Amino acid sequence: MNQNIELLNNIIRLKQEKDAIILAHNYQIGEVQDIADLTGDSLQLSIEASRTRKKIIIFCGVHFMAETAKILSPEKKVILPDINSGCQMADMINAGQLKKLKEKYPDAVVVCYVNSSARVKALSDICCTSSNAVNVVKSIPENKKIIFIPDKYLGSYVQKQTGRELILWDGYCPIHAMIDVKDILRLKNKHPSAEVLVHPECPPDIIDVADEVTSTGGMLKYVKKSQKKDFIIGTEIGIIHRLKKENPGKNFYPAAGNAICPDMKLINLEKIFLSLDDEKYEIKLQYDIITKAKSAIDRMVSIK
Ligand code: 13P
Ligand code: SF4
Repeated sequence: MNQNIELLNNIIRLKQEKDAIILAHNYQIGEVQDIADLTGDSLQLSIEASRTRKKIIIFCGVHFMAETAKILSPEKKVILPDINSGCQMADMINAGQLKKLKEKYPDAVVVCYVNSSARVKALSDICCTSSNAVNVVKSIPENKKIIFIPDKYLGSYVQKQTGRELILWDGYCPIHAMIDVKDILRLKNKHPSAEVLVHPECPPDIIDVADEVTSTGGMLKYVKKSQKKDFIIGTEIGIIHRLKKENPGKNFYPAAGNAICPDMKLINLEKIFLSLDDEKYEIKLQYDIITKAKSAIDRMVSIK
């Protein structure tokens, strides 16, 4: 306990000394969320990374998120406390594969989900997150073909919402793919008045039984406003920490107790302290990748 307080105090002291801000994704472990200056979804964290005046951004999330922060604020030092925090979905497409797809559809606009590498973003026209994917696709002229990468499930959800036909890639999030519709129906049977909130990375059969399909940030806003007491949560279970903390009288039932993203759990207080102390691991990107990816990400941040 005392050790933890000492660690927390050291983090706060170093953060001030080094003029740093700590950003944390909603799937991070509780103690990391609690020490962060801002906890949010991919879009909220990107917006903060582009606005902050601090010199150092300690990004508690996964690699593509820290890269996105670096592209938005190239003059800042962006640090990922554990360099092994990847994203299994982002690894499902690389720059070579996207180049080939673009050769097949040379006139198509490339919409790239933010869960992708900086090199893939550099070859894309516009990025999106789960909270603005529908509006990003709506912003593209009707006569344009659209390639949507890498998430086929988010893509098929956007397809349904917009009525636009998209050229999809066979990527997906293995964590959201674990969620089984039978478990949601069983929970719904047990808690009939519960609302079902799911992330758009879920497969279509899960989307079909949801009351609300939204980003992690969207779930937090939805629950705060809702008059209901019970919620079935179809996403990575790290979000339940914040849901409970911000809504003490409400109950949350994970649709899948094993929906845990191992990459999102690699960062802890010790690693945050070390990352501030040693300024490691700094995200470094080639200048041409930053400039090419920046316009796609700037467009993403401008669409709510
Ligand atoms: P959000 O942008 O909704 O937080 O989602 C990020 C993510 O990686 C979901 O798996
Ligand atoms: Fe990537 Fe899925 Fe983990 Fe999100 S939950 S970071 S999409 S692997």
